[in-house]
Amino acid sequence: MPTELPPFISNSLPIHPSDAYRNTSFISSEAEYAARYQQSLEHPEAFWSDIAAELRWFHPANTVIQGALPDFAFFPGGKINVCDNCVDRHAEHPNTRNKVALFFEGERGERSSLTYAQLHREVCKFANVLQSLGLRSGDVVSVYMPNSLETYVVLLACLRSGIIYNTVFAGFSAEALHERVVASGAKAVICANGSYRRGKIIALKETVDAALARDTQVEHVVVCHHVPDLDTPMTPVRDVDYGEQMERASADFPALPLDPNDPGLLIFTSGTSGKPKGIVHAGGGFLLGTYAYTKYQLDLHAEDVYWNTADIGWLTSHIFVLVGGLALGTTTLLYEGAIDYPHPGRLYEMVERYQVNKLFSAPTAYRMLLKHGSRLAQQYDLSHVTLLASVGEPLNPEAWNFMRSIFGDGKVVINNTWGQTETGGTPLASLPGAVSMKPGSCGVPFFGHHLDIVDGDGQPVPAGTPGYLVIRNAFPSLARDIFGDHNRYLSSYFRQVPGAYFTGDSAVRDADGHYWVLGRVDDVINVSGHRISTMEMESSLIAHPAVVEAAVVGQPDDIRGQVPVAFVTLDARFAAEEALSKELMAKVVSDIGSFARPASIHFVSAMPKTRSGKIIRRMLREIIQTGEVRGDVTGLEDSDILDQLLDDMRG
Ligand code: PRX
Repeated sequence: MPTELPPFISNSLPIHPSDAYRNTSFISSEAEYAARYQQSLEHPEAFWSDIAAELRWFHPANTVIQGALPDFAFFPGGKINVCDNCVDRHAEHPNTRNKVALFFEGERGERSSLTYAQLHREVCKFANVLQSLGLRSGDVVSVYMPNSLETYVVLLACLRSGIIYNTVFAGFSAEALHERVVASGAKAVICANGSYRRGKIIALKETVDAALARDTQVEHVVVCHHVPDLDTPMTPVRDVDYGEQMERASADFPALPLDPNDPGLLIFTSGTSGKPKGIVHAGGGFLLGTYAYTKYQLDLHAEDVYWNTADIGWLTSHIFVLVGGLALGTTTLLYEGAIDYPHPGRLYEMVERYQVNKLFSAPTAYRMLLKHGSRLAQQYDLSHVTLLASVGEPLNPEAWNFMRSIFGDGKVVINNTWGQTETGGTPLASLPGAVSMKPGSCGVPFFGHHLDIVDGDGQPVPAGTPGYLVIRNAFPSLARDIFGDHNRYLSSYFRQVPGAYFTGDSAVRDADGHYWVLGRVDDVINVSGHRISTMEMESSLIAHPAVVEAAVVGQPDDIRGQVPVAFVTLDARFAAEEALSKELMAKVVSDIGSFARPASIHFVSAMPKTRSGKIIRRMLREIIQTGEVRGDVTGLEDSDILDQLLDDMRG
């Protein structure tokens, strides 16, 4: 962990939001935030009761918080339905029933939309389709679809009927999909036949067929013909057509009252071992948390036009759009495709066309816009944008300053939020209008979340000292389990610092109370905001007959944040050749997905190891970043290895 802070942290000065923003935001001053934060820590029940009162319940609960980390429940015994809150409430109200809930735009320019009333009708129908296939509350289905209106219909229908959905990012390979389908015990897969990306058609159903060619427990595949002219073979009995089923289905399906602690969704994420973790979120708990984050951190009002560019395969969309955004009754834009296709100004063009005033994207996207410069931005009207948000990886000050200068007449509020798949939301963020901003910081702790930074013994460290980021209390959207492996849940998150949730990130709090997340303390790297386990990549490489040992580390990258780089030692029968390098890259793509493709593969004759035989990845990282090893080398089993390694790299 670094002990000296980079100057952009130590010299950072607060930037105050404009008075105009302050006048309309939910929380309007730093003092109000501080007072409410303190109150929410002392009386978390009061804070969460106020949030719960803004939602619709079938039946209230007598208790607000039961138990403590890691065994806790929020509003146990109460009855609520996520979909009822995200759709029905707005579809029933005369002022909002004909309001657009979702606009959709595809990469080729195709456009459509659903009002809240239309969304309600579609969701009820699909809930009946699920029912007709024999799926019931508590069953799991895998969803392998791109951003589309149908995907939202499918997920909301699951939430309506208590069916646990597991979205699998549609960039995952057949192998990775198979692993997730089996691990989640999914009875059905709901997929699109294809999707569009950078002008190409990706045949998703082909991947599903390949994933299901080996043994699984899947009984049904529902295929949405999203790409009309794509030849899509259907397996009789197992496969049914989304459109045909919807035509026949009734539009009457009452939302199922559920305990807010019942599992609602399941999403796999990379852990420190080769095996992905199936993170289980409680449905109602997720709603309570995401509603609160979206309301206060995006300062989202019903009249906003909001665009979050995240893909439905990652939890960000579920937090801030599917559940948080819809629960607030906002109009949201969905986009399928690359935001710089067919031209680099595509994102700006869409912000102008839909008059988006709140934009949420990833740092990697902001860095890409920075690369294209302000001339491009000046060709579009971006003056109405009031808020830009991001999550997933560090937002560097250079990108921050650039975004601030081109959007909203140079006065836009920027909110760099910090969260994890496990936290089901963003415990750290700024509060637009209230809290001053610092370029690159992750803001301040959210109401009801007791964040802390601790040393190796779990003791709090003072401001300015980096340490491990932990959360000391339970909150409703925190993951409730790792699917099928409760011991792994306990050991991954609750053993390191007793009584606290261990995030796996290092961070520092500055003198003004702002948090700066410095990076992972484990073997997880962050590529364009996608979490990849280096162990998972190493397992893929080692399974190739030519590979004896493999070590993967992250290399800093201007646009993508980090890219994976692999070091490999070979079996003597194989030669270090370009063709082999390509083959190994293709293997990682096929096992995990193209987003995990190593940027380079270095064939080396030996790895730097400790005396106990552990590969010292820190040294490999240093070599990649600086071309030498300056740090402590006393732990090396054989110090000659380093010279050899540097020679191998040069050769
Ligand atoms: O290391 C942190 C980094 O991303 C990790 C979480 O990744 P994932 O579960 O894929 O996130 C889903 C987001 C809901 C964290 O452990 N991270 C996230 N936000 C930031 C960040 N690192 C730096 N700055 C951030 N704002």
